[in-house]
Amino acid sequence: MSTILAIETSCDETAAAVITGGRHIKSAVVASQIDLHAQYGGVFPELASRAHAEVISAVVAKALRQAALGYDALDAIAVTQGPGLVGSLLVGINFAKGLALMTGLPLLGINHLEGHIYSLWLTADFPEPDFPLLALIASGGHSELLLMRAHGRYQRLGGTIDDAAGEAFDKVGRTLGLPFPGGPAIERAARAGDASAYRFPIAKTAGSYDFSFSGLKTAVMRAVTVQPSARQKRRRGAERRAALRADISVSDVAAGFQAALTEALAQTTKRAAQDFGAKAVLLAGGVSANTALRQKLRQALPLPVYYPPLFLCTDNAAMIGAAAHWRLLAGQRSPLGLEARARWRLGEDG
Ligand code: KG4
Ligand code: ZN
Repeated sequence: MSTILAIETSCDETAAAVITGGRHIKSAVVASQIDLHAQYGGVFPELASRAHAEVISAVVAKALRQAALGYDALDAIAVTQGPGLVGSLLVGINFAKGLALMTGLPLLGINHLEGHIYSLWLTADFPEPDFPLLALIASGGHSELLLMRAHGRYQRLGGTIDDAAGEAFDKVGRTLGLPFPGGPAIERAARAGDASAYRFPIAKTAGSYDFSFSGLKTAVMRAVTVQPSARQKRRRGAERRAALRADISVSDVAAGFQAALTEALAQTTKRAAQDFGAKAVLLAGGVSANTALRQKLRQALPLPVYYPPLFLCTDNAAMIGAAAHWRLLAGQRSPLGLEARARWRLGEDG
């Protein structure tokens, strides 16, 4: 049974974890930068890499301490190689390289999206599945639909052609004056709202398995803000944020937006599952924390739909360790010269 130390620093969480057998979490530590970035309403790349550098060594030490293991008990070091913010990725990669060099352990560079998929393997009631599986990864940076034919074998069916699903949640949340990140805040607001009060458009991407959320975002923006007159725009500067209309119900708008976005994800996922004969659907990434999305997918699909527990939906290192397990078993190793891949589509080169 393999014991893997995994490190994840692709965005705004500095995380380390120890995973055994690809399915068991011995320890999982996440140092979140949400408070740091909340004041800017989004992730600020330079601040993110500096914050990673400040805490990485303590986060890794804590993961080993919580697992009550030393380096001699490990079989490999895994690290997120991409996609993500290059400055942030480099902090984790360089730290992992240093550890691999010091200990002589094999190094494995892992795709962050593959990590999200493998968060399911850390989920208690997830059975060893039959392939092919359909994976929907919806997060702040990605919305990808992938067919998983076997461990480590993916075919990209589609993805967003503009905003990621989580990005749309975050932008609409900001328009509505809700706290960052927008996803959980919109879900909370939507609970008290009436989704039928607003009918927002669902983009049709017929003939493909792509998503598009930018039209939906603009429709929400138009419905809830007071459009400044041409004269006001000239006077105040075009970039000035439009004011929220006084007569809207934030809860109703949140509910209407959430209904439209989750419907778009569910419809396309259902079509892909049928077209490719998927045996089950895996839902992963930050947006998979959304209860409305989970319910809608379960109702729409005549197949098992699996999703991870909340702490594994958002970025963490445990999922990177779970993905690394299968690659280690298959005899894969990354060179010590491993480089960050800021853009790296899963399913393009295996
Ligand atoms: O996977 P993740 O932690 O980071 C990325 O790799 O991007 O995802 C973060 C995203 C944010 O956009 C956040 O608004 C969204 O996931 N999110 C949610 C919920 N919880 C987090 N979106 C909708 N509903 C939620 N409950
Ligand atoms: Zn992520």
